Amino acid sequence: MSMSIEVLIPEQDVRDRIQEMADALSEKYAGGEVLLVGILNGSVFFLTELAQKMSIPVEIDFMAASSYGSGMESSGRVLITKDLERSIKGVHVVIVEDIVDTGQTLHLLTEMLLERHPASLEVCVLLDKPERRKVCMDADFIGFEIPDAFVVGWGLDYDQKYRDLPYIGVVREQ
Ligand code: PRP
Repeated sequence: MSMSIEVLIPEQDVRDRIQEMADALSEKYAGGEVLLVGILNGSVFFLTELAQKMSIPVEIDFMAASSYGSGMESSGRVLITKDLERSIKGVHVVIVEDIVDTGQTLHLLTEMLLERHPASLEVCVLLDKPERRKVCMDADFIGFEIPDAFVVGWGLDYDQKYRDLPYIGVVREQ
C-alpha cells in the first residue's frame, strides 16, 4: 500500500496561530509564572514553539501517556508511562498537547493533575477533532478545529514518522 501526504494547514498558518496562542497565554498569566506540561511524544514541537513565543516566564515538564497500538486507530485506553518530575501544588499549569481526538487522554490527565491541587489548570491544544469525541473534553486554547482525517506533522505521527513536518498534512493511503 502506498501513501501520500497532502497539506492541510501550511507552515506559516501554523506558526502564526501559535504566536496568537502564545500571546493569549502571556496575557492570561501576565505578572505570574506558568508551568507548561507537555504530553510526550506528540506535544514536543508545539510546546517548544509556544514557549519560545510567550513573553512571560515559563517552566516546562513532561508526562507520557500512551494509547496502545500503532497505526491509524487508537484503542481508547491510556497508560501513564512517565510522570512529572516536580510537584504542581499551587502552580499555574497549562497542559500542552498536539491533538484532542476522542478526548480520553486529556480527560484522564486533567483529572489526575487536578487531584494534585494546582493553582489553576488549563488545556492548550494545537488541533481539535470535535467529531471524534467520546468523552467530554473542552480545551481552553485551541489552535485549529480539523475534520476527522488522519493528520501528521507538528508532533503527530504515522507509525512514529512525520512528527517533524513543519506543516499539518493529511495521510492518504492508496
Ligand atoms: C495522541 C496525541 C494525544 C492523544 C489524543 O497520542 O498526542 O495524546 O493521542 O487522543 P485521544 O483524544 O483520543 O486520547 P499517542 O498516544 O498517539 O502518542 P504520541 O503523542 O507519542 O504520538
